[in-house]
Amino acid sequence: MSGLIKISPSILSADFSKLGNEVIALEKAGADYIHIDVMDGHFVPNLTIGPEVIKKLRPLTKKVFDVHLMISPVDNFIKDFANAGADIITFHPEATIDTAKTIKLIKKENKKVGISLKPKSQINLIEKHLDQVDLILIMSVEPGFAGQKFMPEVLEKTKSLREIIDTKNLNVDIEIDGGINFENCNLAKKAGANILVSGSTIFKENNGDLKKNIEILKKN
Ligand code: DX5
Ligand code: ZN
Repeated sequence: MSGLIKISPSILSADFSKLGNEVIALEKAGADYIHIDVMDGHFVPNLTIGPEVIKKLRPLTKKVFDVHLMISPVDNFIKDFANAGADIITFHPEATIDTAKTIKLIKKENKKVGISLKPKSQINLIEKHLDQVDLILIMSVEPGFAGQKFMPEVLEKTKSLREIIDTKNLNVDIEIDGGINFENCNLAKKAGANILVSGSTIFKENNGDLKKNIEILKKN
């Protein structure tokens, strides 16, 4: 299983004064995807970046831009993020009145579709859409901030989701996001996650040795 694990470093923990170089460094360090957290100060109590910044980063790397939208209402911005160069567009079902419609809008832009579940959001919220999406992003912290503590209670949900996906023989990735570190990454993998997001661990551990930190998260 570990050979199939992908690491998606969150640039929320990067140095925003040199964001372009940070993205290039992540690519060199072996990142599989680049996780971009978009917050609106309304759906979550924090503000980050929008499509203009993503557009400027796009020419610097060919890596998959894994864009996690924490904005509501989400539909009006899908085109902008698609045009900016997002490859995967992930939204929260609570950020739209019609999940099926939002999925369609993302597909219309020929982008991969992700749906994210907050720690307390249950699988039944998205189950009927599973055959329409590419990825489920399980939040292991309340969305809004980097550097929070991992919530082990989401592991059961991850396991159940993996079972459903495998039983239905669906090609859906399970990504986990929030508080992932060198100890709990293994629990997340065992529960069935195959993409790990990490901000603080990748940028802060081992004096910010990105390559080493990505390797440890993959191997542990
Ligand atoms: C939280 C974001 C996460 C976060 C990850 O709302 O979605 O991607 O930045 O950062 P760490 O790994 O520090 O929890
Ligand atoms: Zn995220």
